[in-house]
Amino acid sequence: MQAKKPSESRTTMTDLVLPSETNPLNNLFGGELLARMDRAASIAARRHSRRITVTASVNHVAFNHPVPLGSVLTVEAAVSRAFKTSMEVYIDVWMEDRFTGERSKANEAIYTFVAVDDAGRPTEVPPITPESTLEIERFDAALRRKQLSLVLANKMKPSEATELKALFTTS
Ligand SMILES: CC(C)(COP(=O)(O)OP(=O)(O)OC[C@H]1O[C@@H](n2cnc3c(N)ncnc32)[C@H](O)[C@@H]1OP(=O)(O)O)[C@@H](O)C(=O)NCCC(=O)NCCS
Repeated sequence: MQAKKPSESRTTMTDLVLPSETNPLNNLFGGELLARMDRAASIAARRHSRRITVTASVNHVAFNHPVPLGSVLTVEAAVSRAFKTSMEVYIDVWMEDRFTGERSKANEAIYTFVAVDDAGRPTEVPPITPESTLEIERFDAALRRKQLSLVLANKMKPSEATELKALFTTS
């Protein structure tokens, strides 16, 4: 299969924060943000694989900044690394200042998607070639995150997690 670039899967979704999507502090409800990120990431994974894709795990979410009612929120997702049947999707969330239009980073997250056939069986995806410095950084760290996710899900023995061991051993 021919390699693709992260830019080919990049997906941008912009939407308002409405009253029904906020908590009692009038900030965006965490579950609503998770759903928006899942939708954008799912499209990115589908653009990379051109297959049905399912969310296998949510590896990391940081709710660093509250997102107030009325905000214009942009969710940007792109495949950061493709493995055999799974893809890591990196998601950046941006908030737009109501008056100046200036964008600031609100949150970020990392999801894992798996491409499946019509029967739901995992199926191979094209490789990916990162281009920008940020894409290369994210690509390089993705195997470590995959191993951590598999260890936490009890799908890999810690002793097999070579990338994680390398973090803690010097030899
Ligand atoms: C995701 C799913 C297809 C994986 O099926 P499986 O039988 O575990 O398949 P495998 O063990 O062959 O794993 C497939 C790939 O997913 C990866 N994977 C599975 N679980 C993972 C996890 N928790 N974290 C990271 N990667 C994971 C595997 O490493 C493998 O990757 P690779 O082929 O690129 O090396 C299956 O568990 C499933 O259908 N889950 C439900 C998905 C869903 O409905 N999501 C919406 C939630 S509401």
